[in-house]
Amino acid sequence: MSLQGKICIVTGGASGIGLSTVKAFLAEGARGVTIVDLHQDALSTLRAALPAQDAERVLCVAGNVSEEATVEAYVSQTIDRWGQLDISVQCAGVSQKRLPLLDTDVSVLDRIWKVNVRAWAGGVQRVQVCRAWNDVLGRARSGPVGYSSQRSLPWTQVSPEAMKVHTEKANLKRMGQPEEIAAAIMFLAGPSGSYCSGTTLKVDGGWSKFC
Ligand SMILES: NC(=O)c1ccc[n+]([C@@H]2O[C@H](COP(=O)([O-])OP(=O)(O)OC[C@H]3O[C@@H](n4cnc5c(N)ncnc54)[C@H](O)[C@@H]3O)[C@@H](O)[C@H]2O)c1
Repeated sequence: MSLQGKICIVTGGASGIGLSTVKAFLAEGARGVTIVDLHQDALSTLRAALPAQDAERVLCVAGNVSEEATVEAYVSQTIDRWGQLDISVQCAGVSQKRLPLLDTDVSVLDRIWKVNVRAWAGGVQRVQVCRAWNDVLGRARSGPVGYSSQRSLPWTQVSPEAMKVHTEKANLKRMGQPEEIAAAIMFLAGPSGSYCSGTTLKVDGGWSKFC
């Protein structure tokens, strides 16, 4: 139980990599997991499907992470409920088929920027404020760990690729599974990754060696 007593936030936690991460955190003994996603219905269904001992350790917050009110809500509700925050996984994101620039509507670029970059940065900033708060009270043994599909900012990251496309180029010649990305997040979030900081861990079946 490597996350015994930890309090975690997972954005985009209703499906895919985020949902696998939520399940892994609960299995590793997290005391509480706040799941953030767009729709209350999906969150309610997810929670109802969990075993009772897991469901009582879950807090669901519905909202759009690109809106600051949502970021404020998921951090403050986490602190109100559990009084600490140890791990933040920024997994909410949107993907887009790669098109030539001249075929790409600028509204698509706005959406990707808002969700994949701005919301991620806003979440990290808000959590850092929370970390300072925790440190003042002496409750946090370690700072939050961040995860994002973005590669450029100095934060511990997992970079998943070759999950849905390009499998023919990957060394392993198969799609990755959300559980395999969640396992890498678990490594960074848990004690085994205690000396990892400001790095990107590629979990891509060897695909990126061709990039
Ligand atoms: N799957 C891949 O091959 C792959 C590869 C590289 C990067 N990524 C990135 O990893 C992340 C997770 O991927 P996934 O495959 O689990 O995707 P997914 O679509 O299965 O899950 C994403 C979750 O984020 C939620 N979400 C989207 N926009 C949101 C918003 N504005 N506010 C709140 N919640 C929102 C969705 O409702 C969904 O539950 C995404 O950022 C994705 O772009 C995925």
